[in-house]
Amino acid sequence: MRISLLPRRLHHQRQLSTLSFMDSLSTQGPTPPAQEEDLDDLLCSSGPTTLEEREANKVCTLGQPNGYLSGEARIERAWAHWKKLGQPKLVVAPMVDCSELPFRMLCRKYGAQAAYTPMLHSRIFSETEKYRSTEFTTCQEDRPLFVQFCANDPDVLLEAARRVEPFCDYVDINLGCPQRIARRGNYGAFLMEKLPLVKSLVENLAQNLEVPVSCKIRIFPNLQDTINYAKMLEEAGCSLLAVHGRTRDQKDQKKIRADWSMIREVTNAVRIPVLANGNIRHMDDVHSCLAATGAEGVLSADALLENPALFAGFRTPEWVEEGDESCKDSQLDQADLLVEYLKLCEKYPVPWRIVRAHVHKMLGEWFRVQPQVREELNAQSRLTFEFLYGLVDQLRQLGVKIPLYLKDSPTT
Ligand SMILES: Cc1cc2nc3c(=O)[nH]c(=O)nc-3n(C[C@H](O)[C@H](O)[C@H](O)COP(=O)(O)O)c2cc1C
Repeated sequence: MRISLLPRRLHHQRQLSTLSFMDSLSTQGPTPPAQEEDLDDLLCSSGPTTLEEREANKVCTLGQPNGYLSGEARIERAWAHWKKLGQPKLVVAPMVDCSELPFRMLCRKYGAQAAYTPMLHSRIFSETEKYRSTEFTTCQEDRPLFVQFCANDPDVLLEAARRVEPFCDYVDINLGCPQRIARRGNYGAFLMEKLPLVKSLVENLAQNLEVPVSCKIRIFPNLQDTINYAKMLEEAGCSLLAVHGRTRDQKDQKKIRADWSMIREVTNAVRIPVLANGNIRHMDDVHSCLAATGAEGVLSADALLENPALFAGFRTPEWVEEGDESCKDSQLDQADLLVEYLKLCEKYPVPWRIVRAHVHKMLGEWFRVQPQVREELNAQSRLTFEFLYGLVDQLRQLGVKIPLYLKDSPTT
């Protein structure tokens, strides 16, 4: 069986259905008149469309199940795999509508050593070709890659996972989403109330996939519950655990600091590699977090959206102390990064809504200086690359300049 992961030109129809946590994607029917389309759901460019172009990108065939290893052998396999990947320390966290291929490639250029896809809905993914081809795109350089799914049915999850395993290094299960949509859909952090189901999700993948299974969790308020949870996941066959050091109820990430000490306890309690998540805003945080948690690596989400060059040591002015002579203007800024991102979007098309979200994140501070430029962007129902490159030029002509800084130290 062959699957194509390369995006095609979309002919979207507005679809009012329950699928819509990532905005609905229509699969049927004729192309509607332009005014009825959600223009932000259209792909930003057409990308490779002919068979030859797709084959040049090496469409792969699906792998076969590997059988199940138990106990010690599984732990050894987990570490061997992790080492084979080069033990990536700096990882782009999964972000719905934000950790898509062009953004991952930009972060990789600036120091990220691995990346997660956005969370994909396992049922929709296994049922809908259009969803697969627009929401999951990748390329040969996009490795190591963790493909994340939300799920509540082991067989549906396995079916979805089988489609992506040739293209990734881990199939990840989202056990941490705290949003209302996850409560309604019965997935993410709401499975913390249904641990037998979680166990069967992990076991079914571990027993049947070639590629290892990873899980991303939130902590319980109680340390022992968190440790028991992590050990259960390890026992079920999880090969890598990312721990977000906040509970399901701690949704305000700006206000509530992640609990690195609880992550340390998990690292001590399990034998598989652990990644720490929460409060990584610049490279000093990376070093402190690794020291505090003993984790193999860190994930960063929110701060990377503003500054995709974070892992290469660049920092926004917010993280430069007044009078700190060791921080110098790097001559790179967020507008430069946005231009690089847009070029990647021309190469690897994604829906415009995703591009729009990144423009707001990367240029948020710039728009605060010149709010009318943001208004012009908001008034634009149909985006084009020409418009967006023009927007960057306009900000520069208006004299906005917010540098990214580099610290004078070997560890940046
Ligand atoms: C825009 C956005 C989308 C997110 N989507 C996902 C997701 O798809 N899957 C997931 O496990 N976590 C998701 N998260 C949570 C992050 O992966 C991460 O756990 C959380 O933001 C804490 O990391 P931070 O302190 O570096 O932001 C998302 C976060 C943001 C900001």
